[in-house]
Amino acid sequence: MSSFEWNKIIASVLTAMIIAMVTGIVAQSIVHPEKLEKAAYLPPGATGEAGGAPTEAAAAPEEKPQPLDMSKADPKKGEQIAKVCLQCHTFGKGEPNKIGPNLFDVTEENIASAPGYTFSSALSADKDKKWTADELNEWLWKPQSFAHGTKMTFAGLPKEQDRADVIAYLQSLK
Ligand code: HEC
Repeated sequence: MSSFEWNKIIASVLTAMIIAMVTGIVAQSIVHPEKLEKAAYLPPGATGEAGGAPTEAAAAPEEKPQPLDMSKADPKKGEQIAKVCLQCHTFGKGEPNKIGPNLFDVTEENIASAPGYTFSSALSADKDKKWTADELNEWLWKPQSFAHGTKMTFAGLPKEQDRADVIAYLQSLK
């Protein structure tokens, strides 16, 4: 190839680059993207208000429920709510373990320490901690979030008041 042809090739490549650059600059000055104040699409249940982007909140690895106000907890209501636990748990003294362990006197006991029950390794990992109201709050909110891989296939109690009432009921079993 002659050097004359090389010059033509180089010139055309340069021209193409210059055109691309100029188009970019012109396009940027014509179109001004505006950020939406709120997300245009929200998943069901999300409000888009307060606390910034809802998707970020959902993806946060250290998710925690609201701390509970135990002064407003009612163990009688808790007993009613705890009917959903009866499928897998017993609450009376000396009653047998079912799919889950017997829960008599579980509060302030070590996690995963109920006698005669084989706990998952997920929950046993926390066995040096005790079932305080705070730990129970987190556990009953989302068992899978508290102990990822737990055998307790229960979705959780999303309502703060329900968790407070159930914890008050558990604390009354002494
Ligand atoms: C579908 C069955 C099922 C339901 C419903 C269920 N649980 Fe459980 N629960 C389990 C199983 C299984 C375990 C053992 C978890 C493990 O080893 O990972 C467990 C463990 C527990 C523990 C830990 C016990 C310990 O000694 O460390 C508590 C506390 C508890 N459940 C409370 C509740 C409460 C309160 C409810 C109702 C609001 C409930 N569970 C509903 C199956 C269930």
